[in-house]
Amino acid sequence: MTKQKATNVTWQDGEVSREDRYNILRQRGATIWFTGLSGSGKSTIAIALERALYDIGKLSYRLDGDNVRLGINKNLGFSEADRTENIRRIGEVAKLFGDAGIISLSSFISPYKDDRDEVRQLHDQAGLEFIEVFVDCSLAEAEKRDPKGLYKKARAGEIKNFTGIDAPYEAPVNPEIHLKTDEMTVAQEVQIVLDHLHHNGFIMQPQYTRAGDRTSAASQ
Ligand code: ADX
Repeated sequence: MTKQKATNVTWQDGEVSREDRYNILRQRGATIWFTGLSGSGKSTIAIALERALYDIGKLSYRLDGDNVRLGINKNLGFSEADRTENIRRIGEVAKLFGDAGIISLSSFISPYKDDRDEVRQLHDQAGLEFIEVFVDCSLAEAEKRDPKGLYKKARAGEIKNFTGIDAPYEAPVNPEIHLKTDEMTVAQEVQIVLDHLHHNGFIMQPQYTRAGDRTSAASQ
């Protein structure tokens, strides 16, 4: 756990509570944390899920490894320490989003179990839901897909510390959701996550359609 450096700082509450925000949005904030090898399908599922949630009027936001590394984490590389800091920062960002009422869709290789567990702990302490989704795909299949041509480069020694090649990936032991992306379609995967959100009360009635029409709970 990263040590608190600044002293004499205290959390200040406002006059609008988390529940107030959830009520405006008619949803509960949560973090859906996709973890898996590069090329396993994390971002693809997150993009499709974001769209599916939008279509039922629910607000989500994607936090994606490559995107985040172009901004808030542009000073981090792929050493073990940098990956840990990458995940810690995103964990904190996702926590803030969850407090705001947003369903964050975080897609990071996040290869170390301890780092993911720390993010889970952060959420637990804040009373926020952390849903770990193991985007499970064999290395052989990910390497065959190689959407960015990075495995090829890693095999040729042009990229060091590449997950699955010369850096480890520690698979989740007990994820909330386990998707086998070399056996399922993206639509099936999205449906599994949506079902989880519905069954666990993250999506409240009444719902608003994309066009902004209000539909009653009875007609759902
Ligand atoms: S993590 O390990 O710190 O969680 P993150 O998900 O942010 O990684 O970034 C992974 C993405 O960075 C990959 O999808 C790939 O596009 C790119 N990348 C560049 N170098 C590496 C590397 N050495 N290992 C893994 N991914 C890399």
